[in-house]
Amino acid sequence: MPDNLTIKDNRTGKEYAIPITNDTIRAMDLRQIKVSDDDFGMMSYDPAFMNTASCQSKITFIDGDKGILRYRGYPIEQVAEKCTYLEVAYLVLHGELPTKTQLDEWVHNITYHTMIHENIKKFMDGFNHDAHPMGMLVSTLAALSTYYPDSKNIQDAESRKLQIYRLIGKIPTIAAYAYRHTLGLPYVYPDNELSYTGNFLSMLYKMAEPKYKVNPVLERALDVLFILHADHEQNCSANTMRSIGSSQADPFVSMAGAAAALYGPLHGGANEQVLRMLREIGSKDKVPEFIKKVKSGEGGRLMGFGHRIYKNYDPRAKIIKDTAEKVFEVTGRNPLLDIAVELERIALEDEYFVKRKLYPNVDFYSGIIYEAMGFPTAAFTVLFAIPRTSGWLAQWQEMLLDPDQKIARPRQVFLGYDKRDFVAMEKRK
Ligand code: SDX
Repeated sequence: MPDNLTIKDNRTGKEYAIPITNDTIRAMDLRQIKVSDDDFGMMSYDPAFMNTASCQSKITFIDGDKGILRYRGYPIEQVAEKCTYLEVAYLVLHGELPTKTQLDEWVHNITYHTMIHENIKKFMDGFNHDAHPMGMLVSTLAALSTYYPDSKNIQDAESRKLQIYRLIGKIPTIAAYAYRHTLGLPYVYPDNELSYTGNFLSMLYKMAEPKYKVNPVLERALDVLFILHADHEQNCSANTMRSIGSSQADPFVSMAGAAAALYGPLHGGANEQVLRMLREIGSKDKVPEFIKKVKSGEGGRLMGFGHRIYKNYDPRAKIIKDTAEKVFEVTGRNPLLDIAVELERIALEDEYFVKRKLYPNVDFYSGIIYEAMGFPTAAFTVLFAIPRTSGWLAQWQEMLLDPDQKIARPRQVFLGYDKRDFVAMEKRK
């Protein structure tokens, strides 16, 4: 059987054989479908890209119906249990798990790019004490591009590698500086003897002691959370990274744009909204009333629930829920977990959510752990952005190396006025 579609245009009676590759047709193959020869030709219309592949990728595979997530073929459950975050960042970016030598060199290079230019402190001091950390992160990422003009050499593999070290190494430092600024605390310099997450905790929480004492349970829990957030194929922020990067803008400003997309409450901003929602509910017995409000449309959305791709349980949410128990052994139980578990129990039995295939997503439980670890709610999306840096950069680099790609410039279906003449001021109604 030939791998093609036969499309018959009933307006003309003409038939077209449209090739099928990877169970997909090229939208450009539709352009030959015309009524008259000087027509522009057929396009596909797909607001929000509900059914449009913008690229071919080998990085992350998701099967939303089966709740499957794999980085370069490795199941999320296995890498979350057996890897460190930097090991997964290497995998996502290079396509293979690193050898010991490769991992040691990778960790060394990132560790030695954790410092940020001292001027960034002046930049940080310009923010109000209550500035949202995502606003501080987005603007500081863009500002960093002015310190690294060499990052514009996006076609040079060595330059890309250096920017990747810089961005993965520096984003925890920027996040920690933003946190310390909001509390009026002195900035803490990176400690190169600590792990990626250990150093991050030290830059956040070190006070007068000569060396921060990392709690290994919290260090590992944060590593697992970072692994779970590393990449997620063509989500809104990855699409933004690819789109900005396709104009050959440098990776710093491209990532500032990606972080801006992540900030939205429907995307990475949801983990912050989940905590606000759980606090608003207040106690387990108030859950049924809240669910009723959501279903009636007056209560907004059940934040942390639902997903464009997952029409089953988000595999990351399951792992996060298990990680929460380990964290609470150290930090004490977060009572909001009981409300979240009750919310999940009731929602998963309710026709409204079942019919719409709404399950907890990665944001539903992550905030509860972050709060138990002492992170302020406003910082939760920053904790999403830090690990997603490796995914954004992997998507960006794959786009640059893909011969099929060029500057992203969608079409539109124009439904506005046809040509009309200018109207003088005195004649306007
Ligand atoms: C992330 O894309 C990714 O991969 C993202 C991410 C990643 O790792 O990068 O996984 C991270 O962003 C997770 C999602 C975090 N966002 C939230 O938790 C916010 C709440 N969830 C939703 O707003 C929503 O589910 C989305 C945005 C996640 C997905 O939205 P879709 O696919 O566009 O679905 P939709 O808005 O068209 O909703 C379909 C129906 C609607 O009802 P009807 O109009 O058919 O009656 O489901 C309803 C929606 O009203 N619905 C919800 C709901 N989510 C969808 N109703 C109540 N609560 C919700 N959470």
